Amino acid sequence: MEKNCVHGGLNVNSEINLGKIDREYLERHQKSKSFYERAKKVFARGVTHDSRYFEPTPIYCVKAKGSRKWDVDGNEYIDYWMGHGALILGHSHPIVTRAAVEQARKGTHLGASHEIEIQWAEKVTRLIPCARGGIVEFTNSGTEATMMAIRIARAYTGKTKIIKFLSHFHGWFDYTIVDYNPDYSHILHGYYPVGIPLEICRYTAALPPNDIESVEKTIEEGDVACVILEPGGASMGLIPTPKKFLEDLRKITRENGVILIFDEVVTGFRDAPGGAQERYGVIPDMSTLGKILAGGYPGGAVAGRKEYMSMLEFNVEGRSDFRRISHPGTFNANPLSAAAGNACLGLILDGKVHPTINRRGEDLKRGINDVIEDSGVNGLAWGTTDSIIYIGIGISEVDLEVSNIESFIKFQKKRERSQKILRMIEKALINGGIHPMGSRFILSIAHNKRDIEITIEKFNEALGNLRSEGLLKDYL
Ligand SMILES: Cc1ncc(COP(=O)(O)O)c(C=O)c1O
Repeated sequence: MEKNCVHGGLNVNSEINLGKIDREYLERHQKSKSFYERAKKVFARGVTHDSRYFEPTPIYCVKAKGSRKWDVDGNEYIDYWMGHGALILGHSHPIVTRAAVEQARKGTHLGASHEIEIQWAEKVTRLIPCARGGIVEFTNSGTEATMMAIRIARAYTGKTKIIKFLSHFHGWFDYTIVDYNPDYSHILHGYYPVGIPLEICRYTAALPPNDIESVEKTIEEGDVACVILEPGGASMGLIPTPKKFLEDLRKITRENGVILIFDEVVTGFRDAPGGAQERYGVIPDMSTLGKILAGGYPGGAVAGRKEYMSMLEFNVEGRSDFRRISHPGTFNANPLSAAAGNACLGLILDGKVHPTINRRGEDLKRGINDVIEDSGVNGLAWGTTDSIIYIGIGISEVDLEVSNIESFIKFQKKRERSQKILRMIEKALINGGIHPMGSRFILSIAHNKRDIEITIEKFNEALGNLRSEGLLKDYL
């Protein structure tokens, strides 16, 4: 029988068979691990957001500044979570922080309207093309924004069904969290969305990404209120969306009186100051916003043409108020988020954010691809927006061309097969002081040239560590 042994302050009795990367990870995160043990007693899955789940322990952080953050064990990281994409200016940007702190002193909730909410909305209408001359409705999160946009679309059209695309994420509420489709569910692992009545799932048609024929067919079947998608591609650009698909969608939805919603919670103010709609030159009817919108504080919004947004108006002549959408919400446009968001959008309007961040993203993508090529590993780094970079192992350019259920499944299977390797790369990078968000790197203007160089060096090291543990043999 094995004896308890202590290795670098770590009781490794149960971890005796771990490889070097796993052992180093545990050694480096002893305090985090003890926090995780406590957390598991109060949180069902030990964490407070599904994507922060990480075994044997997620890292627990204490502070962050610029491109860096620090964990409870004293490890320093170049951070590529960047507030799940909310922190385009980096952690604690001085201008945003000053605006928020000043507002906190004046009051975090005035129980009244206030000027900053107007300034904030005015900036949204200047930046986001579909909101120019239009209307903004603030919510507390991206999820709430997509809920509201769908409700507006249904109220306006009087129709019930929504079209979404497999793997496109729009928050966790019933109508969009489902990737349910009776035609494909048996192929897609027989996925059944527990907690959501099947009747509700039937109002959502989840179609293969970029499959225009499926969209046409579903619209022909009738009762479609809206099409919602991440214009930059599924799950922050994992599966890219071709411009042609967006153009075709625009045409088909317009011809059929179906509302087109771009979920720009990620791409808004990131792909370009005006989001993906500015970048691709395709303007939707409504847009949902979040993350960067509130400068790293909680917030969301729907923005779009008055024609649709007027479903929220009081006292419309000739319409009973029973036919309007009500929208309470204690923290709607709360002064703290408004102050931070207004400051952040002000900096984006200055025009200096995007040239910098896009260049850094390009440098990182090129650097990672060079490392992959030099190492002889079958893999790829890509990004549909310049400042979110994905890595894939066993994936090539052609796999990213998803346009029907077959190519979607092929992509998913390849991705699933490489999940373990991607997790190990992530772990090796964390050991090296780099914290990617899973297999993606989300950039901010706080990432400087040196940060990018270090990240590329550490990625090289991480691949080397995996190789020496024999983990890459299937991908060489
Ligand atoms: C495209 C997209 N839409 C909606 C949401 C939901 O936003 P929130 O997490 O603020 O509810 C997210 C969150 O990541 C997202 O990526």
